[in-house]
Amino acid sequence: GSGMRFTVAIDGPAAAGKGTISRAVAAHFGFGHLDTGLLYRAVGAKGGDPAAAAAGLEPADLERGDLRSAEAGQAASRVAALPEVRAALVEFQRRFARREGGAVLDGRDIGTVICPEAEVKLFVTASDEERARRRWLELAAKGGVQSEAEVLADLRERDRRDREREAAPLRPAPDALLLDTTELTIDAAVAKAIKAIELRQAQG
Ligand code: DC
Repeated sequence: GSGMRFTVAIDGPAAAGKGTISRAVAAHFGFGHLDTGLLYRAVGAKGGDPAAAAAGLEPADLERGDLRSAEAGQAASRVAALPEVRAALVEFQRRFARREGGAVLDGRDIGTVICPEAEVKLFVTASDEERARRRWLELAAKGGVQSEAEVLADLRERDRRDREREAAPLRPAPDALLLDTTELTIDAAVAKAIKAIELRQAQG
């Protein structure tokens, strides 16, 4: 095809605002959006042999209702440390990244491993306390029972595992733009992301 291809890679620790920014950016530019964390959550939730679960992942697996829970996040982080699981998911993500019409992928290793050639790379962070506060508000609105301190401990454990694993650890690509959202409203964070993409598009 002759459609435009443009990849935006958005990485960072849990609950830093990647999902919110990715959805807003994708809507603004009319790009497709892939939440890659959902792939690992679905593999973790399937149970059984994680490598087989990843190799046999189907669209319906991504529609299970319980994938957003803290337990599903921990299970995802554990299976995500396995190189065979990661390898089984690479091709699907790369194909999505090069789809016509542009793509935003958010995760942990998009700018470093999945799409090192992405036109724009953002590394989104926020303080641990702010991330825990946001995630706690989100969970509480859905009837969650965890305290803010429990949410904070959960995020820290997951980030530590994601940073310290051998396979595609969480870290910024050397050429990623760092976006600290601790003191930013959603609109301000989204505006910064859109600006970075427009600047890159203007370079052709
Ligand atoms: O983005 P999330 O919180 O839904 O991701 C859940 C877990 O999946 C995260 O703790 C680590 C893993 N993950 C990963 O290793 N690589 C990605 N690209 C996305 C998620």
